[in-house]
Amino acid sequence: MKKVIAIDGPAGAGKSTIAKALAEQLGYIYIDTGAMYRAVALTAIRAGVAVDDAPALTALAAKIELDMRAEGGVNRILLGQEDVTEAIRQPEVGAAASPVSAVAGVREHLVAQQRKLAARGNVVMDGRDIGTVVLPDADCKIFLTASLDERVNRRYEELRAKGLPTTREAVREDISTRDYRDSHRETSPLKQADDAVLLDSTGMSIKAVLVEVRRLAGA
Ligand code: DC
Repeated sequence: MKKVIAIDGPAGAGKSTIAKALAEQLGYIYIDTGAMYRAVALTAIRAGVAVDDAPALTALAAKIELDMRAEGGVNRILLGQEDVTEAIRQPEVGAAASPVSAVAGVREHLVAQQRKLAARGNVVMDGRDIGTVVLPDADCKIFLTASLDERVNRRYEELRAKGLPTTREAVREDISTRDYRDSHRETSPLKQADDAVLLDSTGMSIKAVLVEVRRLAGA
């Protein structure tokens, strides 16, 4: 049987770490939908398109060519021929991805691509609207969250480990702003699906969260 696992939650909850590890353990495909919004944001920044120019952003999303492939444990994101895996993780791209993802036309194009990718079956997909909008019939839906303090700490350590200069205050400001915007936008706001299981990972190790997620997925 093909299995589709949807993991949603706010910024810094550990969704991509967990979804990626889960996919690896199960031999499933991991689809990072946040990376797709980030790739549109990166394209917009490079093209000088404003993050509130809905028609221009929709046109960009319509013609963008995205591909994902797992390579030596790293999920590479290709924008056309260019590998943008690192470029899309820059804080300014994350900050731009939030308003870009609020544009209904952008979502329409990316959701269509996400459904096509999921149709391959045996996938773990993470994002904000996977259980509610993209894959409402997913076999397993998890809403992964953690306290704001913990999410700030995790993101801060992650950025520091990558050598990206930042402060805890800047990370807190960024996460709070994104959470608010992602949860209050009109189109597909971040929201727990009625049939999703809430998993609060505050104080839990990655290993412990993985064990719990596997149990919930019956895997
Ligand atoms: O998970 P992330 O930080 O890589 O996501 C980047 C932005 O994209 C975030 O502000 C929310 C948005 N996003 C979304 O609206 N829907 C998704 N399915 C995934 C991400």
